[in-house]
This record gives sequence, structure tokens and C-alpha cells, in this order.
Amino acid sequence: MDYKDFGLINTKDIFSDALSRRYAVPAFNFYNMETLSAIVSAAREKKSPVILAVSESALQYMGKDLLMGMIWGLKIKPTERIALHLDHGSSLESCTDAIKMGFSSIMIDGSKLPFKENIDLTKDVVNIAKKFNVSVEAELGTLSGIEDENISSEDSSYTNPNDVVTFVNATNADSLAIAIGTSHGAHKRKSDKEELRFDILEEISKELPNFPLVLHGASSIPQKYINTINEFGGNISNALGIPQEQIKKAVEMNVCKINVDSDSRLAFTAGVRKSLFETPENFNPRTYLDAGMENIKNNCIEEIEKIMNSSNKIQ
Ligand code: G3H
Ligand code: 13P
Ligand code: ZN
Repeated sequence: MDYKDFGLINTKDIFSDALSRRYAVPAFNFYNMETLSAIVSAAREKKSPVILAVSESALQYMGKDLLMGMIWGLKIKPTERIALHLDHGSSLESCTDAIKMGFSSIMIDGSKLPFKENIDLTKDVVNIAKKFNVSVEAELGTLSGIEDENISSEDSSYTNPNDVVTFVNATNADSLAIAIGTSHGAHKRKSDKEELRFDILEEISKELPNFPLVLHGASSIPQKYINTINEFGGNISNALGIPQEQIKKAVEMNVCKINVDSDSRLAFTAGVRKSLFETPENFNPRTYLDAGMENIKNNCIEEIEKIMNSSNKIQ
């Protein structure tokens, strides 16, 4: 199906508006009805554009039909600015499948391939996506941490600013994910002293002025959710995210898509654990799922306001 039939839009106009008005579009990952509806209600309440991100494993978990049924059920209005995005697409096949399902934006993640092979794969995906007016995000440089359930990249390598123009010109990708020190998951830094490599970001933005840059692994890992999880039976130690001020600084330097998944996972888990602990007699899942949803919604609202600066950017 065509993504426009669902009321979805691709990311081109969203990004050009974000670049000119200096805000970032949040890309929040979802994997079920609860996460989707919490994210969308936060974006609607704050009148923020939003990118609904689905990893390949989340797609498999929901199943194509249920996923697209839920997107249909959002009843997206023409005034809203909502994109459905494949996160970390690993192959031409999975990107093509997503386009056919009705995704309006896809990421092809060739970041672990040698430079030339990354270019070739990205180019192939762009050629197909352009036929459907679907936008394509590519990645140069690798992030450390778990990128997907089966792929872990312990080694990270920063994006080389000297490569970005060649890569973008050769592939015609619409946006570029870069590695400047963020990483996936809840353990992003060993100490409070570690800073993102703003020097690299500055050089990249000089090489690619007005080009949409993307930060993966940008969760701030709110300590309040870690504390709640641990207070109510969980055990998460040494979790440390990217401070909000650092992400905000990146937004002022052409980063206009910020990916957040771990914060929602933590918010949800904290809500569910607390609810189950406080009402041990309850066995109605709707009650504790509601507590998880409310935490995700509140966290998305806080990030939209304090990090993305994307409130009130739509009618
Ligand atoms: O960047 C990766 C996302 O956090 C997706 O993780 O494959 O477990 O859904 P997942
Ligand atoms: P976090 O693990 O920091 O939430 O990153 C999510 C992400 O990059 C999804 O693509
Ligand atoms: Zn990612």
C-alpha cells in the first residue's frame, strides 16, 4: 500500500523545516499498541512532528498486518506530520518489503560494511525508494552497543568528515546517521566526563551544510526510571546516558533526527514494576500496562520540550 493512504509523509519536508527552524524531529521506537499509542499521544499533545521507528525485530514481533492495522487506526489527519520509518534496515530485501507495506522512510544500515560496499548497497536502496518517494537514511561510522538483537558492535569508529561528501553524492541518500560518541542501550558512557565529539560534528556540518544529520543511541537514560526499576525488584547497574544538554547542542549543529528507544523501555518497565509491586492482588494487565504507557508518554513529552525543541511546530 502507498504510505499516503495511511496519512503518513516522508521525512524530506519535515527535515527541511527542522533545519531551518533549528529543532530535531524525535524518532521514537515502538513495538506494540501501548508504545505506539503513548508516543503518538505525546506528539499530538505537544503538536510535534514525529517519526515512528520500527526495527526489523520489532516488525517481526508485531507482524506486518497488525502493525499496519495499528497505523491505519491512528486516523492521521492531513495537518499532522507523522512518518513511519524502518530502523536499521539490514538488506535491500527488508527495505523493499517495508516500502511495499507502506513505510514512508527507511534506513539502510551498511555502516559495518567497507566504505565502497556501503555505498553500493545504499545506492541500490535509494534507487528503489525514489520510485516510491520514500526517504532514505544511511549510516557512516559505527556505534558501539547492541544495534540489534543479534548484531553487537563492540568496536565503534567515529565518522570520518572527509568521507561524508563523497558518500552522500555517490548514494543520493536523504539523511545521514553519524557516529560521534553515542551508542545504543543504557550503558553509553563509563563516566560523567565523557563528551560527544562536537569537533567531528562541526567538521561534518561544514562539509554538509543544511543536510539532515541523524543521531542514533541518543537516549538520556533518566536516572529516575533506573531508580524506580531497582527499587521495585529490578537490577540495572552503571547505566549512563547522554546528558540532555549535549543532545541539545548537537541539535544546534544540523542534527535534526534524534533516535530514542532505551528511554521508553526504561520508562515502561519502571511503570509496570511499580504498579505490580504496589497492587500485588491485581492481575488485570490493562492496569499495569497503563502505568507503563503513562510513563512513556510523560518521557516523550519531556524530551520533545527539553531536547528536541519540536513543540508547536505543526498546526
Ligand atoms: O537501534 C536499535 C533499536 O534500539 C532497536 O532495538 O531490535 O531490540 O527493537 P530492537
Ligand atoms: P537508544 O538505545 O539510545 O535509545 O538508541 C535508539 C536508536 O538509536 C534506535 O535506532
Ligand atoms: Zn539506532
